[in-house]
Amino acid sequence: MTSTGPARPAPPAHVGVIGGGRMGAGIAQSFAQAGSTVTLVDDGEQAARLAVTRITESLRRAADRGLLTEPAEAVAARIAPAASTAGLPADTALVVEAVFEDAALKAAILADAEKAVGPETILATNTSSLSVTELAAVLKQPGRFLGLHFFNPVPASTLVELVKAPATAPATLDRALDFVHALGKQDVVVKDSPGFASSRLGVALGLEAIRMVEEDVAAPEAIDDAMTLGYKHPMGPLRLTDVVGLDVRLAIAEYLHATLGERFAPPRLLREKVARGELGRKSGKGFYTWQ
Ligand code: NAI
Repeated sequence: MTSTGPARPAPPAHVGVIGGGRMGAGIAQSFAQAGSTVTLVDDGEQAARLAVTRITESLRRAADRGLLTEPAEAVAARIAPAASTAGLPADTALVVEAVFEDAALKAAILADAEKAVGPETILATNTSSLSVTELAAVLKQPGRFLGLHFFNPVPASTLVELVKAPATAPATLDRALDFVHALGKQDVVVKDSPGFASSRLGVALGLEAIRMVEEDVAAPEAIDDAMTLGYKHPMGPLRLTDVVGLDVRLAIAEYLHATLGERFAPPRLLREKVARGELGRKSGKGFYTWQ
C-alpha cells in the first residue's frame, strides 16, 4: 500500500477529559477511536456515566456508517467514567478540560487536575474564548499548559487550534502536536490572543455580514451565496451564525469588542434578534427559518 503522508504518531496511552458535554464527549471519543484509554470526568458519578453512555451511542452510529475499524463496544470499553479529577491516573499523558465556559470554574478544575496527575502530564483547555495566559497562572507548572481548541463535532472535524501562552514550554507544544496528529487531525498554532485565529476571523466576517443586512445591501441568501459561490466557503457567514447560535456569537463579539476594540462592536440587528429570542437553528429562526 502506498502512503500519502508521514506516518501518524502513536496516540497518547492514557488521556483525561474533564467535562463530558458536547465537546468533552467528542474529544474522549476521538482519542478512544485512535487507541488511547480515556478517563472521562464529569460533575459526579451519574453525570460521568451518562456521558459515557452518550459516547457509546455516538460510537454505534459511527459504526453503522462504517466509520470505525473495530466494534463500537470495543472502543467504548476504553473510556472509564470518573466522578471527579481525583480519578485521573498519575500517568495520564494529556488532560483536556472541557467544562462550561466559565473562567473561575476552569481555573479551579485545572488546579485540581494538576494535583491528581504526575509532573509529565500535559494540561490543556478547550476554551473557545478565555485567556489561556490567565488560566496558566493558576498552575504550579504553567510550562505544561496550552489551549487545544477542538471544533464541533469533534470526531468529524479536521482542525485543532493550538494556543500558546507565553509560559507554554516548546516541548509541551511539540508533544501536543503529536497528540493532535495521532487523531489524524491538522493543526494551526497561534499565540494566545482574544478569539485566537478561528473565532476572531469567523466573527469578523459574521458581524460584517450582519451589518450588510442592516444596511439592506442584499438579502441574507445573496450575502451567503457571495461567500459560498464566490469564495468557496462551505457555508455562508449568516447561515453559520444561525448554526452556531446568535446568542453565542453575540457573547463572543462582546468579548472581542472589550478586548480588541470598536471593530467588533456587535451590530444593532444582532442584539435585537437575540432580545427577540431569534437565536438561529436552535430556536427555529435567525437569519433563516429552520424546521
Ligand atoms: P456543555 O455544556 O455541552 O458541557 C459542559 C460539561 O461540563 C457538562 O457535561 C457539565 O456537566 C460539565 N461540568 C460542569 N462543571 C463540571 C465540574 N465541576 N467537573 C466536571 N465536569 C463539569 O459545553 P460544551 O459545548 O461541550 O463546551 C465545553 C467547552 O468547550 C467550553 O469551554 C466551550 O466554550 C468550548 N467549546 C465549545 C464549542 C462548541 O461548539 N460547543 C466549540 C469549541 C470549544
